[in-house]
Amino acid sequence: MTLFIYGLIPFALYAIFDRLYYTWLPTNYRFDRHLLQNLIQETLPNHPDGNATAIMLELAPKIKKEYPDIINDLNFDDWVYNNAGGAMGMMFILHASISEYLIFFGTAVGTEGHTGVHFADDYYMILTGEERAALPGSLEPEIYKPGDSHHFKRGQVKQYSMSPQGFALELAQGWIPAMLPFGYLDTFTSTIDFHTLYLTTYFTARDMFKNLLNGKF
Ligand SMILES: *[C@@H]1O[C@H](CO)[C@@H](O)[C@H](O)[C@H]1NC(C)=O
Repeated sequence: MTLFIYGLIPFALYAIFDRLYYTWLPTNYRFDRHLLQNLIQETLPNHPDGNATAIMLELAPKIKKEYPDIINDLNFDDWVYNNAGGAMGMMFILHASISEYLIFFGTAVGTEGHTGVHFADDYYMILTGEERAALPGSLEPEIYKPGDSHHFKRGQVKQYSMSPQGFALELAQGWIPAMLPFGYLDTFTSTIDFHTLYLTTYFTARDMFKNLLNGKF
């Protein structure tokens, strides 16, 4: 009987977090995906050569201007690799909190893998290159080009690829801590790259605490 009750705990917790996902959690969201996509669309025409560095250098201050208190200044020292689901990319954290993250994510050399299953809605806004994605049973890929936004819905599973020199602005809204195991486990089963793990944890935790102290959950 006791065991049975303990066995119910995960289901009860899931039900609570699921309920909050639709009710309370969104009240903490600050980023507007349409506004971010508009900023991208007005920036891209200035860079017909598709130089990702130059695009980010113009875009990041524009984002900062819209959300001055919750955005980190872009630099190219605090980028970290991310291995997850067989894909490998690099990222810069513009914002991390319990309910949202905003990052530059992409790859210089190209990658392909499993998206992961997430307790969050994800808006993957292409800056350069091309993303391809498909649900099981879709024999033709969805193709996303610069200026497009791929709304990757909570709980979905896709295979995806990012072309060489493909970079995106990625907004996630949901239970961010629940996404972290997917981003971390490859360290233990594959890369053994504890330095990257340390840096990722440091940048994420630092930002989450800073935002939490400022009342941004
Ligand atoms: C891309 O833009 C950056 C920053 O403006 C510049 O330093 C770099 O040389 C450019 N790369 C190419 C290939 O033009």
